Amino acid sequence: MNSLSVTRRYHFSAGHRLENAALSAEENARIYGPCYRQHGHNYHLEVTVAGPLDFATGMSVDLGEVDATVRTALLDRVDHYDLSHAVPELADVVTTGENLARVFWGWLAPALPAGSLRRVAVIETDNNAFEYCGDDAEGNP
Ligand code: NI
Repeated sequence: MNSLSVTRRYHFSAGHRLENAALSAEENARIYGPCYRQHGHNYHLEVTVAGPLDFATGMSVDLGEVDATVRTALLDRVDHYDLSHAVPELADVVTTGENLARVFWGWLAPALPAGSLRRVAVIETDNNAFEYCGDDAEGNP
């Protein structure tokens, strides 16, 4: 099958702090260090979607459709919000890059054409990128 993947890059800005509510303040400070303090990031997001190559158009993915889906299913829910306190779906999630990538996969996969999502990457800083490919052994997003 001539399946081709396309990666689109997006951007959002958001605040957060890393905190596990089950732990004491001292434990959180020890585990998360300065990330336990409220702060923010200019996140980059990469979404990789695959589809069959249409030989007539030379394209495999409707980028306009992907953009619209990422906007409504993800960016509108996080851009310029405090991820740790203002996004209900993240209320019980420690907002590490790993967890964000997994949660974002769960938001995007059902909104995109079935089976087309291949990869979600959350780029938190110049030094940190977190990727999830939906390959969780339990099948959980
Ligand atoms: Ni942070």
